[in-house]
Amino acid sequence: MEQLTYWWQSGVIYQIYPRSFQDSDDDGIGDLQGIIQRLDYLQWLGVTAIWLSPIFPSPMADFGYDVSDYTSIYPLFGTMEDFDMLLTAAHKRNIKVILDFVPNHTSDQHPWFIASKSSRSDPKRDWYLWRNANEDGSPPNNWRSVFGGSAWEWDENTHQYYYHGFLKEQPDLNWRNEEVRQAMYDVIRFWMTKGVDGFRIDVLWHVIKDDTWPDNPLNPDYVSSMPEYDELLPLYSTDQPEVHDIVNGMRRVFNEYPNRVMIAEVYLPLDKLMLYYGINQSGAHLPFNFMLLSLPWTATTIAEAISDYEQHLPADGWPNWVLGNHDRPRLATRIGREQTPIAAILLLTLRGTPTIYYGEEIGMQDVPVLPTETQDPQGLRMPDKQISRDPVRSPMQWNDSINAGFSKGKPWLPLSIDYRRYNVAAEQLQPYSLLMLYKRLITLRQSELSLSLGSYTQVYADNQLLAYIRKVENEDSFLIVLNFTHRPAYLNIAENYSGTVVVATELIREGNILTVPFALGGDEGVVIRLKK
Ligand code: GLC
Ligand code: MG
Repeated sequence: MEQLTYWWQSGVIYQIYPRSFQDSDDDGIGDLQGIIQRLDYLQWLGVTAIWLSPIFPSPMADFGYDVSDYTSIYPLFGTMEDFDMLLTAAHKRNIKVILDFVPNHTSDQHPWFIASKSSRSDPKRDWYLWRNANEDGSPPNNWRSVFGGSAWEWDENTHQYYYHGFLKEQPDLNWRNEEVRQAMYDVIRFWMTKGVDGFRIDVLWHVIKDDTWPDNPLNPDYVSSMPEYDELLPLYSTDQPEVHDIVNGMRRVFNEYPNRVMIAEVYLPLDKLMLYYGINQSGAHLPFNFMLLSLPWTATTIAEAISDYEQHLPADGWPNWVLGNHDRPRLATRIGREQTPIAAILLLTLRGTPTIYYGEEIGMQDVPVLPTETQDPQGLRMPDKQISRDPVRSPMQWNDSINAGFSKGKPWLPLSIDYRRYNVAAEQLQPYSLLMLYKRLITLRQSELSLSLGSYTQVYADNQLLAYIRKVENEDSFLIVLNFTHRPAYLNIAENYSGTVVVATELIREGNILTVPFALGGDEGVVIRLKK
């Protein structure tokens, strides 16, 4: 029988960027033993699962998103024994482990590509996307790499171009080749057999390209401040109809194992995004919903976005919400520190699985990195666009000791200068801190069915406030009221809702009875358990 609910629906996911979480051997780079040391913290925080950005052997041209061996561990992160230890230790604490699967491309140092590149007649030639040059020697078409420049790289040895949607060190696999599919499915099986609880799948909408290779059209909305990639619309290079066969194929592999989750990275408009759920549960369980990463932070915009998303969702699709990740500006930087508590309440009381990016719970900000110290290939290749991802990948701030307790060695990226104020140890002692708000919210969500699985009904939205109810039949229901501005505001609606405040940005409210109409201060939010 189909289960009614799964852990990945009711639970909370926490993303770890392994290089930056905790260093155990003082080489300045976070590692698996470091993560093990911090499992107690994650258990205390109350998260259900951790998702680790890639931990596999890699030349690190794109910090692990260029994999040279899908079934081993990057030595600076540790060994397979360390991984097994992490998996066991996490499971012992009831924490699931989700890994990162990078199917679109390998590293150019992967043995498959080395073979593919060795000659036109190599059995692995067709595992990648090789094309002849045009008569004048130019690349097969105008497609761009996401990281700038042509997506085609000339190979002197075999006199053909190969396709790379990202760096030239990240050649794209040919997913039309059956052997590639089987080899990659076996990668999923390898980790599933070990007991991994799921995968987040990297750039899933990129995996299949139009195999007649037409030029991409110009983007009429392009302006020069945008990355060069956006000059064209990726009409033929991404989100092709056949991608859904691949998605279904992957899902079937997931289905070979009970209770695993398939999460997909897909940056597309809502109507296209929803197709990645597949028909009748044949696609990803959770195609990431990235709306909140870029929308203007106003109550009306967010209210509309939530209804829009809810309306587009397939009937059997489970929603999810994301406020930050290792590619996008940090929340505190984007919306301002004063609003981070509102964002926390929103993320943890919306209908759908929340994913927290490490450090968001303590209010970490983007950390400035000098051009001479830039490590991210996106930053290095487009220095004038201010889109380096280094600032969002700075070391986790654990305490006020040297290097914030991350490492005794020199961290691979600079630390935030404010780490003595914003760190786990300090915020654990401070009842008003963002961290303690996160913890109270997670605890509440994990214990109240209405909050984890209940319905979402908006009851009010204007240009300051958003109010909604979460409800499951026969359980306590909750009214959430959020002030998205710095100015005070009233909730004055016809229904005279009343109940006890269970979590609030202003601690003094917790335990008090609130009855509509009531006023909230600037940047204030409340979760109210409604009277039955
Ligand atoms: C995804 C990853 C990003 C990486 C890119 C190429 O967008 O999140 O970090 O650079 O894919 O693999
Ligand atoms: Mg280390």
